[in-house]
Amino acid sequence: MDKIKNRINELIELINKACYEYYVLDNPTMTDQEYDDIYRELLSLEEKYPELVREDSPTHRVGGEAIDKFNKVTHKTPMLSFDDIFNDEEIESFDERIKKTISKPRYTLEPKMDGLSGSLIYEKGILVRAATRGDGVTGEDITINVKTIKSVPLRLTKDIDIEVRGEIYMSKSSFEKANKERRETGEKEFANPRNAAAGSVRQLDSKITAKRNLDFMAYFIPNPEDYGIKTQEESIKFMKELGFVTNIKLNGIANNSRDIISYVNDLNSKRESLPFAIDGVVIKVDSLEDEKILGFTARVPRWGIAYKFPAMEVLTTLNEIKFTVGRTGKITPNAIFNPVHVDGSLVSKATLHNEDYCIGKDVRVGDIISIRKAGDVIPEVVEVKLDRRKDGSIPFKMIDTCPICGTKLIKKDAMHFCPNDLCGARKIEGLEHFVSRDVMYIDGFGERIIEDFYNEGFLTSIEDFYHLYKHKDELMTMEGFGEKSINNLLDAITNSKNNSLERLIFGLGIRHVGKKTAKILAMHFGTMDKFMNAEYDTLNNIPDVGDIIAKSIIDYFSNEANIKLINKLKELNVNMEYLGEKIDTSNEKVNGKTFVITGTLSNPRDVYKAKLESLGANVTESVTKKTDYVLVGENPGSKYDKAKELGIKIISEEDYEELVM
Ligand code: IVH
Repeated sequence: MDKIKNRINELIELINKACYEYYVLDNPTMTDQEYDDIYRELLSLEEKYPELVREDSPTHRVGGEAIDKFNKVTHKTPMLSFDDIFNDEEIESFDERIKKTISKPRYTLEPKMDGLSGSLIYEKGILVRAATRGDGVTGEDITINVKTIKSVPLRLTKDIDIEVRGEIYMSKSSFEKANKERRETGEKEFANPRNAAAGSVRQLDSKITAKRNLDFMAYFIPNPEDYGIKTQEESIKFMKELGFVTNIKLNGIANNSRDIISYVNDLNSKRESLPFAIDGVVIKVDSLEDEKILGFTARVPRWGIAYKFPAMEVLTTLNEIKFTVGRTGKITPNAIFNPVHVDGSLVSKATLHNEDYCIGKDVRVGDIISIRKAGDVIPEVVEVKLDRRKDGSIPFKMIDTCPICGTKLIKKDAMHFCPNDLCGARKIEGLEHFVSRDVMYIDGFGERIIEDFYNEGFLTSIEDFYHLYKHKDELMTMEGFGEKSINNLLDAITNSKNNSLERLIFGLGIRHVGKKTAKILAMHFGTMDKFMNAEYDTLNNIPDVGDIIAKSIIDYFSNEANIKLINKLKELNVNMEYLGEKIDTSNEKVNGKTFVITGTLSNPRDVYKAKLESLGANVTESVTKKTDYVLVGENPGSKYDKAKELGIKIISEEDYEELVM
């Protein structure tokens, strides 16, 4: 047995060394064949002797059993982000602001990776937990998924306890590959590498994550002083020594805004040629001592900032203006143009919103237009190059009948609608909405699949999703499907029955009820029955709901067909209750009390606010007679004076800790 154990240890060492050389040093010393051989040997030993499988074995990288949901994780130190800035002037003012406190600052400059931040916790050098940022205070436990990322060391070169933060991202080549596969299977393509990374790391089935080929770039140690580190630059070196991939070669140093701007321009010119997507430069004060002096504002650290590159604009030719019908019947004109790469993704269409927008921009088929990605995600038409317009172009004209069912359109404000509830396009859109990520999250349904199932008559209403299993044999004969893919789809449908109520409310497609409102309603009413039977006044009085939404909900439930649909879903065991986090009201000293926070505390104010609110407190901005407690940090301002004047209880950070315990 000892001999086998030794061989397993030896194989793991060899594999880890090969990965380190490949990913961190960028200098492979083993051929793919050699790697495969030792990997397979390890795998077969582990299969034979499961009791000898090590926690940090590289074979965990293929993923494990699927899980039901991600557990919540509270970060030891809140995971913050920086404020964004967008131009040279703002870089100059940042530098000036820092120089008011630190006379000769030195800055580290790093590419701003375009993925999602992750926190990795190692104990005695072994990866024990990985989490998403979440709201900064609590994230989600994504350990099994992160273990599949080959550039994440499962074991460090030192047996230490440490937390390392960095960006989980998808390289441009993996992104292209993933989208190619999705095109082939008819699934909706990822909009950009960031969405692809975020979607892949939040898979309940880690085997899917493993296939997506994610990467990790380390950039931050929350408690560097524990390792004798004095600067951000040293942090990066230390992480590299531990076995992490860092951007050490691309990072820069600056002492003033001129040098920062020149680094920004230089990096921007290299941007296209980098193997991963970046969206700016992160500027950090290098000295950790200086960082401490600078501290935080209410939300963000003062010692750093994120400069975002201007959105890229690309020229192309407008080939067609195509009208689509949304699930509410809204008609949208869309620009269909020659495909172009914008910020790392290939785009070929952009919304033109409505008639007024098209007329305002004077878009015409055949025009040269410039495209950019608004907020880095949704492509938009920036302008028409009027000087390049060809003779004989025809001005835009809005249609007056539905392009799908031919019904005469009606106009409300700037928008046109198809009033026909039975319009096929509206139904398909509604079905696509129902399965989408933010709604019932039924993975595996691309646009094309919904359309095919609709055209074949398997899917005509939401309810039909839950009857699809009856048609399994027929579905299996459809092009692009096999037993496995149908089983996965049916499993995903069954799992969706357990979703919390807000997803179902959002999925019903009630006009004006978006994701946020659905959550407010689900939290307020707790059950579908209470929501369905709510009166106008009750709905109208809920904060953030109001008249328009209240009327729309009443309207929806006054339609007999909608009540029938919900009753059918109930019979099919679709969950009708809110399952989300409830406020913990057990701490009587905090629940229902009103707090004001002032002065510099050891964390940004939002951290205290989130905790207090989770315990049922109100956190407000100004001190009044109604305030119960004022939490006071260093250098408090007028709120402190006001609290003293009104005789309101003043508490320190320690008192606070005791209060919320
Ligand atoms: S440092 C206190 N370094 O951009 C903030 N962040 O606002 C510590 N990001 O949400 C983060 N590249 O997800 C840092 N080299 C880098 C980064 C980086 C990308 C992301 C991060 C954060 C946002 C910064």
